[in-house]
Amino acid sequence: MKIKVKVPASTANLGAGFDTLGIALSLYNEIYLEESDKDEIITIPKIEEFENPENNLFFKVFKETLKANGENERKFKVKQIVNIPVSRGLGSSASVIVAGIVAGHRVLNKELSDEDFFKIAYKFENHPDNLLPAFKGGFITALKEGEETYYQKLYFPDELKFIVVIPDLELSTEEARKVLPKTIPLKDAVFNLQRVALFISALQNKNFDLLKVAMEDKLHQPYREKLIPNFYKVITNAYREGALGVSLSGAGSSIVAISNRNFEKIGEAMKEALSEVGINSECKILEIDKKGVQIEEL
Ligand code: HSE
Repeated sequence: MKIKVKVPASTANLGAGFDTLGIALSLYNEIYLEESDKDEIITIPKIEEFENPENNLFFKVFKETLKANGENERKFKVKQIVNIPVSRGLGSSASVIVAGIVAGHRVLNKELSDEDFFKIAYKFENHPDNLLPAFKGGFITALKEGEETYYQKLYFPDELKFIVVIPDLELSTEEARKVLPKTIPLKDAVFNLQRVALFISALQNKNFDLLKVAMEDKLHQPYREKLIPNFYKVITNAYREGALGVSLSGAGSSIVAISNRNFEKIGEAMKEALSEVGINSECKILEIDKKGVQIEEL
């Protein structure tokens, strides 16, 4: 059996929706897998540290899935096409975790329930705001309470695109969480609550002029801003060229603008703010992915 798994990137938080909102994006990691006489993995483009089956996240999750179902002996040959940049706030690890669990269940010929999914996924990452968009696709609000996960898919208008600027700057989620305070003032919590509700309803009602206010944040971006040189200038430049809303993507370092126009110009203006401080970046213009993980037998 040879299988292909395709999993989308995701952008979490969307400004005010810290640890809550996430959207799947039309940028995909692909994994090809077949049974073999030894475990081996190649990555394209080649990433040396990912090519050891003992340390490769996909392999670890995939093997954990098999092990949880009593299969310890089977060996596999894997080809991993890495299109989602790593440590850039675009859900690359969530995508690989989802791929590992889904591929494992296909190999076992076993239905995958949400409960089974989370049981394995949370051994590797605690962020349903990236895991769920990668798994289910679309725009999702999620929360994890102990072992329970509650989530809903939300409406997102097709005419909006995502201008994602990816700095040449790796930032691990762990590192970006260390700079956050342990407590926050009540007024900052209220500030975000009001905006996250406004964001969801502005999208539903297509009142796009509200997105700029709705994507403001006081819970994480003011603390993380120091990790991304010229962060606020990137945001200002995007608005200058007509972006509707702009935020840090997940824990960063990518920055995402939402717009229904001027996609290229917005991207160029955002990149310009980074190059002023000597940081190269690339820009991708993406759409919402509504399907989530896809698997096929080849
Ligand atoms: N919401 C998380 C954070 C990252 O901002 O730290 C996404 O999983």
